[in-house]
Amino acid sequence: MALRKAEWEQETSSLPPGWPTEGCIDMRGLCLRYRQDLDLAIRNITINISSGEKVGIVGRTGAGKSSLMLGLFRIIEAAEGHIFIDGVDIAQLGLHELRSRITIIPQDPVLFSGSLRMNLDPFDNYSDEEAWRALEYSHLKSFVSGLPDKLNQECSEGGENLR
Ligand SMILES: Nc1ncnc2c1ncn2[C@@H]1O[C@H](COP(=O)(O)OP(=O)(O)OP(=O)(O)O)[C@@H](O)[C@H]1O
Ligand SMILES: [Mg+2]
Repeated sequence: MALRKAEWEQETSSLPPGWPTEGCIDMRGLCLRYRQDLDLAIRNITINISSGEKVGIVGRTGAGKSSLMLGLFRIIEAAEGHIFIDGVDIAQLGLHELRSRITIIPQDPVLFSGSLRMNLDPFDNYSDEEAWRALEYSHLKSFVSGLPDKLNQECSEGGENLR
């Protein structure tokens, strides 16, 4: 089987601007593997997750929970089957399009050395007002208001100075 290089941006993207608006995830016959010469890590998963539905995925170590997440971001590509998010087959998207539209909240947060603002909005896409609103929704507004430099507070790597 020939390997195809994944596109970063698709030249002719028809992705709706707000995609994904609902957040329905439909996996059909999904198989994932880490390398061509390895066994499947995920074998034939079919699941339909509705908008707003919260789903817990449980399984013993090595069952494939983390692999499923990597499949959503196409860090590992589907060997067979498809993942549709709001009806869009994610295999048809550029990696940048896909990864800039969905997010993961990991168990251990990642903070880079730099200002708090840079960590909140690394591509400078939002106003200070929007940054403060995000902090308010996260119940962090009073914490950040109490920092000497507020949004410009310098974070050390891993947020060591913010504990
Ligand atoms: N980087 C990798 N390269 C090759 N195989 C991998 C890699 N990471 C995981 N696997 C394999 O994929 C399968 C699923 O592993 P995965 O890490 O998704 O399990 P998990 O359910 O997240 O386990 P845990 O509960 O330990 O986090 C296992 O057989 C594992 O050996
Ligand atoms: Mg895991």
